Amino acid sequence: MLKGKHILVGISGSIAAYKSAFLVRLLIKAGAEVQVVMTESACEFITPLTLSTLSKKPVYTSFYKTDNGEWNNHVDLALWADYMLIAPASANTMAKMAGGICDNLLMAVYLSAKCPVLFAPAMDLDMYRHPATRDNIDRLLSFGNKQIAPGNGELASGLWGEGRMAEPEEIIAFLEQEIAQHASLAGRKILITAGPTYESIDPVRFIGNHSSGRMGYLLAEECAARGAEVQLVSGPTHLSVNHPRIHLSRVQSAGEMYERAVALFEQTDIAIMSAAVADYTPVHAEKEKIKKKEPTLVLELQKTKDIAAELGRIKKASQILVGFALETEHELANAQAKLESKNADLVVLNSLKDEGAGFGGDTNKITILSKHEAPVTFPLKSKKEVAKDIIDQLSNLIRS
Ligand code: CTP
Repeated sequence: MLKGKHILVGISGSIAAYKSAFLVRLLIKAGAEVQVVMTESACEFITPLTLSTLSKKPVYTSFYKTDNGEWNNHVDLALWADYMLIAPASANTMAKMAGGICDNLLMAVYLSAKCPVLFAPAMDLDMYRHPATRDNIDRLLSFGNKQIAPGNGELASGLWGEGRMAEPEEIIAFLEQEIAQHASLAGRKILITAGPTYESIDPVRFIGNHSSGRMGYLLAEECAARGAEVQLVSGPTHLSVNHPRIHLSRVQSAGEMYERAVALFEQTDIAIMSAAVADYTPVHAEKEKIKKKEPTLVLELQKTKDIAAELGRIKKASQILVGFALETEHELANAQAKLESKNADLVVLNSLKDEGAGFGGDTNKITILSKHEAPVTFPLKSKKEVAKDIIDQLSNLIRS
């Protein structure tokens, strides 16, 4: 799996840097091409010569090649890498990564990297537990960087606890799993609808709903992280995307979302309908602001077009359709009915009766229904983890 892969190993100042020599050796043995970048303090723990010999390449430690004043191009180094592996990641280096502080070559490469970044923390247990370190790790995870968690054991300080860098074999296993997962949707074209829709009543008012769009955006990120090309059709949200394989189309109304989704569907392998589309829209949107005159106001509404049902109707045998069902009663029966009526391959059911599920918030609790298997119920999880579960089920369906 590692054969021919370009792995940029970043080494920061920690006693665990001695393990990086084994790590580089294992990577080379597995057929990877390895480029090592070290911080100045890493060189106090292990010599660049050792790592250069093991990686069979010069090791970079500063912005300049000291003998001729030539600079080491951090952008080229970052673009060369398929994966960046920072091991050991000291508390100081993680703080710089989290804060975007660029005072050494390793940080310049990190900030220029477009590839997945994995980091293996190494430090004393109290440093690892400190709220500042926890915050930095959370921030790195929010950037999409992956933590290879440290183990428990005797630390250089003589104390016992968490903070010991993962063993080189564990780091390699983690990386291989990442590579496998990263490629699992490679080349697939995925259409995702997300967020609410706004149905205009007049120039200043609309009918909307509480959907934040977060679930759909996280699904888009998860699909892109696994190599898919994603078309994200989003209703109004405050969210943004930052991934070269996610193409965002912003729409307002159910009608606009319908037009965009149907137009993109021909070029789609998998469509995931996570948007909370309005079921009804005003028959007429008034051109001028409605004035407050009468004691009551009646709005005439008409049904919107059902995007999921339309895609289910026109879908070819090779295309997969995933619908969502947000229910408040008879949840399984209603979701089963949607699976059939919309000709979907999977339906993700949220019940508003479950605490922590549905709109807003950062958690969700889902059950996934499919045509041929029994429903699978998942515990309450963060929306990010829920996105992974949904895409795992989808990947199982593709494989079966
Ligand atoms: N959906 C859609 N277009 C619509 C309405 C719904 O694509 N006009 C999709 C949603 O994105 C979701 C699924 O259909 O994937 C189910 O949506 P939901 O609102 O739960 O169900 P409805 O079909 O609207 O039925 P009801 O509101 O009566 O439960």
